[in-house]
Amino acid sequence: MSTNVFRVKRAPKLDTEITVPGDKSISHRAIMLAALSNGVCKITNFLEGEDCLCTARAFQQLGVTIESPEPDLVVVHGSHGKLTAPDREIDCGNSGTTMRLLSGILAAQPFTSRLIGDASLSRRPMRRIIEPLTQMGAKVIALGANDAPPLVIHGAPLHAITYQMPIASAQVKGAILLAGLYATGVTRVIEPASSRDHTERMLEYFLVNLRREKTRADRTQKPKECRIAMLGKQQIESRDFAVPGDISSAAFWLVAAACQPGSRLLVKNVGLNPTRTGIFDVLVRMGVRVREIVENIEEGEPCGAIDIQGERLIGTVIEGGEIPNVIDEIPVLAVAGALAEGRTIIRDAKELRVKETDRIAAISSNLRLMGVEVDEAEDGMIIYGGSNLKGAKLPSYGDHRIAMAFAIAGLFASGTTVIEDTACVRTSYPQFESILRNLERGDNTLWHPTPVISSLADWHRPQKSFGQ
Ligand code: S3P
Repeated sequence: MSTNVFRVKRAPKLDTEITVPGDKSISHRAIMLAALSNGVCKITNFLEGEDCLCTARAFQQLGVTIESPEPDLVVVHGSHGKLTAPDREIDCGNSGTTMRLLSGILAAQPFTSRLIGDASLSRRPMRRIIEPLTQMGAKVIALGANDAPPLVIHGAPLHAITYQMPIASAQVKGAILLAGLYATGVTRVIEPASSRDHTERMLEYFLVNLRREKTRADRTQKPKECRIAMLGKQQIESRDFAVPGDISSAAFWLVAAACQPGSRLLVKNVGLNPTRTGIFDVLVRMGVRVREIVENIEEGEPCGAIDIQGERLIGTVIEGGEIPNVIDEIPVLAVAGALAEGRTIIRDAKELRVKETDRIAAISSNLRLMGVEVDEAEDGMIIYGGSNLKGAKLPSYGDHRIAMAFAIAGLFASGTTVIEDTACVRTSYPQFESILRNLERGDNTLWHPTPVISSLADWHRPQKSFGQ
């Protein structure tokens, strides 16, 4: 990846409407289930970010025909669940979702595969998927230190398990359910709190039967335990799928509008799955006016518009069962906290330490460089908001969400903020910088992303060229 920088200056108020590119989590899963299905599936609004392209290339290596005959259309020819052995290692790039979900599928294949990733992914914990997949009968070996990648997966016939997950994780839950599709018997997963439920919704959309129940762990405000049961060996019926816009990408502009009294933003065609919309609750507690309009749930994923009006924000507490619902938005919510009056407390968020970078350390350090007082804790931080942000030179730590969150901070800072090493933004939001420039210029015309020409070029080449 080449090294880029964002130079950001204070921006005027905004009053506009936007759409954002397709949801990353949903795009991964759409490719995966379409690839395992029994026919041809057309996917529209697929996110052409690097992470999801890794998933598409991985399935091509596994023998699945995937084409993009025209912009905004991906056609997947389902393999009826039968993949072929890859002729070389599969590169998951920066994408934890690719590696963990794919491991669930590969655990059941009658061949051995080897999964690698970039420097960041090569440090991320894999014990969380190795444990359940091994219990189901596969042999999964982590070659890195502390159970980190590369992973060698010796697929085997699988049997169902009941698995009590120690942490709420959509990637772990997804890996177990995808393995469970191939297992004999009923796979049961119990989560301590509900993480994003895109795997479950998409399985149901592809006509796989599952039973889902949510129970309150007790009468207090404890997170809700979440149980799923699914019988293995079910047919995945091919269907077309339209990916809604990514609320985690919208989050950057929502915070940019929320923190400016008098700003207004309408985000259209965005995913409004309740396991992803915790950011609205947080912003409402901070004093922002948010209106959510669900327009469509035809494909199993609620989708619609969000209308937001900026205010002077007040600090809040983000904790407990709410954390999995806002896990990817915490970097930008921390920026909102720095701009709010009073303290913003984030706790129970230790998972942030094992994301693309240690996000607790990265957020704390970058906020301090901008002149904000922060107390860092093992599972979160206290941000003392309300002081003026100072422009600074900030590392991205190679983490897309850190780079984008601090670009938003730069819109409210004195002087110039320089974010270094921003090539990572291509993993989830290749159009981010062009929208940032519109915002800085006060250009309130419509902001609708145009397809990313460079990666589309890859799509249109014969499918072999997906590989490097
Ligand atoms: C994702 C799940 C989340 C999230 C990640 C994408 C997914 O991680 O942070 O960016 O698509 O399943 P967890 O597995 O920790 O829930």
